[in-house]
Amino acid sequence: MKRVITYGTFDLLHYGHINILQRAKELGDYLIVGLSTNEFNVSKGKESYFSYTERKQLLESIRYVDLVIPEYHWDQKINDIKEYKADLFVMGDDWRGNFDYLKDYCDVKYLSRTPEISTTKIKSDLNLVTIK
Ligand code: CTP
Repeated sequence: MKRVITYGTFDLLHYGHINILQRAKELGDYLIVGLSTNEFNVSKGKESYFSYTERKQLLESIRYVDLVIPEYHWDQKINDIKEYKADLFVMGDDWRGNFDYLKDYCDVKYLSRTPEISTTKIKSDLNLVTIK
């Protein structure tokens, strides 16, 4: 059983998120998602639209996701990899290089981002819509 772990905020879930979760799952048998808590997001200057509970419920309803765990801070990844016995750490290539230090604990792979979609873009585009 190969266990894969990935992290993110996954706010306003979009097809770029689904694509990376699908590809992450294809690299193993069991996919764990470390989901940023509301407080962690705020500390990153990134307030989410959906709450942690709402984002977790969305992720748990995706067939590729086996387990969602909270991500409270930047420094928990080594512990999570050990605790959940992850064989592979996956992130989008916007993070390329940032997590190479995890190579001492498991394999690390950066997958190409889906072009032209992000939570930030959705938020920005929707600001153009006037609510009647
Ligand atoms: N991701 C991706 N393709 C996209 C957007 C995100 O592969 N078009 C990946 C990221 O690289 C990351 C994961 O999805 O591994 C979660 O990213 P997250 O930051 O939650 O989503 P974004 O849409 O990038 O959000 P934001 O605009 O707030 O940065």
